[in-house]
Amino acid sequence: MGNTGKRSYPSTLSKGITRACLLTALASTGYASAVQADCEYAINNQWGEGFVATITVSNTTSATVNDWSVAWEYTGDNRVSHLWSANLSGTNPYTATPMSWNSSIAPGQSVAFGFVGSSGGTTEIPTLSGPLCDGVDPDPDPDPDPDPDPEPDPEPSVPHLYELADFPIGVAVSAGNESRSFLTLAEKQFTIAQHFSQLTAGNIMKMSYLHPAETTYSFTQADDMIDWALDHGLTVHGHTFIWHSSYQVPSWMSSYSGDFQAMLDEHVTTIAEHFAGRVESWDVVNEAIDESQTNCYRQSLFYQQLGSAYLANAFIAADAADPDADLYYNDYDTEGGNTTKLNCMLQIIDDLLANNVPIDGVGFQMHVQIDWPGSSTIASAFQAIVDRGLKVKITELDIPLNNPWASTPFPQYTSYTDAAAELQKQRYKSIVETYLNTVPPALRGGITVWGLWDGDSWLLDLSSRAGADDWPLLFTGPADGPYEAKPSFDGVAEALDP
Ligand code: XIL
Repeated sequence: MGNTGKRSYPSTLSKGITRACLLTALASTGYASAVQADCEYAINNQWGEGFVATITVSNTTSATVNDWSVAWEYTGDNRVSHLWSANLSGTNPYTATPMSWNSSIAPGQSVAFGFVGSSGGTTEIPTLSGPLCDGVDPDPDPDPDPDPDPEPDPEPSVPHLYELADFPIGVAVSAGNESRSFLTLAEKQFTIAQHFSQLTAGNIMKMSYLHPAETTYSFTQADDMIDWALDHGLTVHGHTFIWHSSYQVPSWMSSYSGDFQAMLDEHVTTIAEHFAGRVESWDVVNEAIDESQTNCYRQSLFYQQLGSAYLANAFIAADAADPDADLYYNDYDTEGGNTTKLNCMLQIIDDLLANNVPIDGVGFQMHVQIDWPGSSTIASAFQAIVDRGLKVKITELDIPLNNPWASTPFPQYTSYTDAAAELQKQRYKSIVETYLNTVPPALRGGITVWGLWDGDSWLLDLSSRAGADDWPLLFTGPADGPYEAKPSFDGVAEALDP
């Protein structure tokens, strides 16, 4: 625990392999490739004695494939030196088999893994064999298109957004069994690894996912997500040990009749210990405030059972279980527009600090509006946390174009016009500028956007948005990629690198 720079997020991985190199290997378009039925070997990059290649295994059948393997043998000097996103056995011939998180391939989906190799001067495209690579194209194209990719290759304004910041640039993802889990979509993995240095699970590290029954913890989905992040040089922000939201409080916990504090301590301790060393920071408690209550505390299950002490005890348990993780209090509507709520939060934070509770920072969710709150209001809220020597982390940023509470009729935009895109770009830019101008480097916990591309946004499902279309994030689709950086992405990049 503490505000020292302990675990800095890596821009290089072990064995001297740079992230840029890994990212090149993740690219879905190669310089040279050979298609054999449903397996493709692509050389993404080559130099003197080395190369980076990707093997993509596609399921063009109508049934899910639950396991796969690919074998190959070089006739010349090429050899594999470091492979990721699959298990490798053998030394020429080689066999690659899945990790736990990419063993299943749905119809029409594909899985890619990459590697760095030594070439001895010339690269070779070997024959691939395996259940999905029978060496015969089952659906040969009678009129091969010299440019088979109908989508333009997205060309973002900067090659790697995360390289512009010396703090985490994060994104929330769907993982596990959620629809469009990034672990099943090669293009999503590519864009995430290309631009982000931190991952947050949008759902699967919440209470009911990790702790579905009193004596049952289910860590596999989160472990798979974290393995992927660490393999690709990203850190992980944990979200969240304690959250009142009814769909995320496990039902067994709601009716628990034993020692509630001991049970909650065990919940926090078990999860924090399991992920210790692999999670950089945690939202320890999410959304504990109800500013309409005179003492500011939401009347959640936890408050009703334990009073305000549950907050301090959660930080103490998390710190004891994982002393290296940064510990945050996280909430929405605290970025200043709602002064009562901000003041409630400051009162609670001051109380924790006065009692020497091990808290490192405050997470501002920042589900803000295009026109609210103003930058100076946001700056004052950040400043109040900086004044207390705590880190400031923007944990769930999204900026929809339509404000349901604006004085003008809702929705304000029914299409994503150039003018709307420019407005949104300037808003993203000014929020990042406000962060940089207000929060000194040592207290910057990072900036995370809540979803990769517009179609992934949780806002689309909110009833308050009345089904309005919206464009709140940094990338546009199609749903399974390739994703294209929007002007909002440029706004963030311009703020980080003026
Ligand atoms: C949201 C997820 O994005 C949705 O998929 C889910 O249906 C509801 O929760 N504040 C938070 C997040 O702290 O956990 C919420 O995530 C969004 C609001």
